[in-house]
Amino acid sequence: MQLVPGFLPLIVSLMLQTLCSNFLRSVVGQHERDNGIDFVYHNYNEMVVLLHETAWKCRSITRLYDIGRSVQGRRLYVLEISDNPGVHEVGEPEFKYVANMHGNEASGRQLLIFLAQYLCDEYTKKNKRIQKLVNNTRIHLLPTMNPDGFEMAYRRYVTVGRVPSMYGRGNANDVDLNRDFPDLNDIMYQHEQTGGANNHLLRTVRENKESRQPETQAVMDWMTDYPFVLSANMHDGDLVANFPYDKSRNTRKMYSATPDDNLFRELALTYSLHHRTMATRTHPCRFQGAKVFRDGVTNGADWYIVSGGMQDYNYLSSNCFDITLELGCDKFPREEELKRKWEDNRDALIEYISKVHIGIKGLVTDIERNPIANAVIRVTGPSIAHDVTTAADGDFWRLLLPGVYTVTVHARGYKPKTVVVPVRRYRPTKVNFILKHLPKESTGCKLRELEEEGYILGGFKAALRQFGFLGEDCDGLVERREDVLGNREDTTASP
Ligand SMILES: *[C@@H]1O[C@H](CO)[C@@H](O)[C@H](O)[C@H]1NC(C)=O
Ligand SMILES: [Zn+2]
Repeated sequence: MQLVPGFLPLIVSLMLQTLCSNFLRSVVGQHERDNGIDFVYHNYNEMVVLLHETAWKCRSITRLYDIGRSVQGRRLYVLEISDNPGVHEVGEPEFKYVANMHGNEASGRQLLIFLAQYLCDEYTKKNKRIQKLVNNTRIHLLPTMNPDGFEMAYRRYVTVGRVPSMYGRGNANDVDLNRDFPDLNDIMYQHEQTGGANNHLLRTVRENKESRQPETQAVMDWMTDYPFVLSANMHDGDLVANFPYDKSRNTRKMYSATPDDNLFRELALTYSLHHRTMATRTHPCRFQGAKVFRDGVTNGADWYIVSGGMQDYNYLSSNCFDITLELGCDKFPREEELKRKWEDNRDALIEYISKVHIGIKGLVTDIERNPIANAVIRVTGPSIAHDVTTAADGDFWRLLLPGVYTVTVHARGYKPKTVVVPVRRYRPTKVNFILKHLPKESTGCKLRELEEEGYILGGFKAALRQFGFLGEDCDGLVERREDVLGNREDTTASP
């Protein structure tokens, strides 16, 4: 996961190469510069150099690391930007942007490279808003999840000028990475019928790591290593912000809402409304069946069905809320378009990150103030049938729209606790839970209760229990799933 020191000579020689080619380009003068940002495509080597340069330039707020390698051995680099890079600060939410999982969809990759430079420069220039965002958020940027596919498409772009729409989409094994994640929707839809969880479902399947592409596996491992709260993944081919579910309840194309539908809609709107044209354009893209989306947002399965996609996987396997951004009609736009792309997206990119600071957040501890990991945070009134869990330090984040909520925390071996909290628009409400141990003899409790109680009734019951009118229940839903499944290795940090 860490940088290899022996990599340095290679970097230096690549830097020299880049300097030369930049020099030639500036003599020829066919590209545009702004704030020191070079609005050109970067192939893998050039990208690696630029990421190292940016990381070095802003070394007090960055860390460059990789999460694994592609089929052809290219490193999947992540640039972390935060005031204390390399450490999870208790209570500070983590955010990710993932681009270029389809190798021939190129603008997101460039936007993240530009965003890294922009955040670095503005932080240095003491831009208050950027400083505040970086100081209070741990931002992770993965500019390319599919570097092999990009190299193939980019070579075609350089030689022919146009990239066919499927050329370089898959990884080097020609697998579509946005169909390669575990499909958890079928399990969840089953649970909707029979009662059961809507979250952390990877625990209910036996994963065979060999069957995943290395790029997919790297992202899955990354998601278990970091307690991500919010993210987006970037594509090209249309202009719209797309939110879960991507897979419908049957095989037909139809609006497929999550329990967090209002929240997801708001998150998607945050991007589209701050984008220069996403919400307001009047013409569809020029291909068969293209349409104009109202306000520039759409439910995934209402548009077309994806199974094994990354955004549904985020929601159903982890605490992370992920949406999919389609950044333009052209999958591989011409280099001359990149500056305008950046200007179209810049505010939306920043505004969307700041959405990680809504809802409630806090700490779950026992009465001696020891953190409790994997405690279940459940919103029971108004009922939202999707739980999040605490990270390794006992901290949690539950994105919510403004309102008043009843929230119950369950943790194995502790009395559950319920509070009523107001949520405002622009900052999270902090709420800490201190849980009491259950008396020893009552730990063998009603195993099925938590799982089977409805969410609305659940809040009421939890409140009664709080005041001692009902018996205790003992375990969080997630922990009990572990018991049922028995022999599982893993889960160091949060799910
Ligand atoms: C961000 O943190 C840095 C380093 O601690 C500090 O110098 C700066 O004033 C902070 N900026 C804001 C806007 O909080
Ligand atoms: Zn795509």
